Amino acid sequence: MSSPPMAAKPMKGILLAGGSGTRLHPMTLAASKQLLPVYDKPMVYYPLSTLMLAGIRDIMIISTPADLPQFKRLLGDGSQFGVNFEYRVQESPDGIAQAFLIAGDWLDGCACALALGDNLIFADHLGVMLRAASNRPQGATVFAYQVRDPDRYGVVSFDESGRALEIVEKPEHPTSNWAVTGLYFYDSRVGELAKKVKPSPRGELEITDLNQMYLEEGTLHVDRLGRGCAWLDAGMPDSLMQAGTFVQTIQSRQGMLVGSPEEVAFRMGFINVDQLRKLAERVKKTELGRLLRELADHAVSA
Ligand code: G1P
Repeated sequence: MSSPPMAAKPMKGILLAGGSGTRLHPMTLAASKQLLPVYDKPMVYYPLSTLMLAGIRDIMIISTPADLPQFKRLLGDGSQFGVNFEYRVQESPDGIAQAFLIAGDWLDGCACALALGDNLIFADHLGVMLRAASNRPQGATVFAYQVRDPDRYGVVSFDESGRALEIVEKPEHPTSNWAVTGLYFYDSRVGELAKKVKPSPRGELEITDLNQMYLEEGTLHVDRLGRGCAWLDAGMPDSLMQAGTFVQTIQSRQGMLVGSPEEVAFRMGFINVDQLRKLAERVKKTELGRLLRELADHAVSA
């Protein structure tokens, strides 16, 4: 008799918050880039909210030996958000794909999403898009976004039928203006495939090379983010300021939170209304606290 199929293990998530933030010196000489404020929250809250919105509850936070204690201080064990945080050090900034080697044993053959700690995605129906990516059993999913300066990013080009042709890391002469964002979803083979990535000429294990492997085997899904989406990376003074202004504009105009793990935890059913009130209390002197309180009050009266 054949045994019943095993239920797929839940997807895990990695939040990569390493690097030395040299493009933000002197701000990052004594502080982690991913803990700098983007308007009213630490930068890392935004990609963390994105992972949680994808339904992911086991999240490893990877940072430098000097910065990791600060992340622990901010985020704790995750129980306040109804999730589990695990922490690991990246001894030296040897590339994004190294995250899967650092997390190897913890991943234990699970599918995994990776979010870069300085990326912010804001979009209508983002949750639906993310959950579609996390539920895809085979292959990998990346998101592409049109930018004016593609040479700063991994760039994906398409054929006439819209099929992805290749991804090139920071090309001198980009063949399209579609940048690959810092949010990636991989199937359960990612830990093994990452071991095959060789250091690039700049000495890094490039995430682009891992994505290119999936592309070559025909299992890379490239979701193009349209006009209704905003993708911001906060890695330089201008983009940091733009990201802050963007969040401030939406929050103050609409009274809606952007990048709040407290809100996402509640809406995803990871925490109940009493836990939400506790989180609101923790930041009670702020507008964030007021908006969280309001969310709790509405939930009770609804
Ligand atoms: C990294 C990736 C690049 C991607 C970008 C998104 O670049 O290497 O492919 O487009 O993140 O933020 P880096 O942050 O290392 O410059």
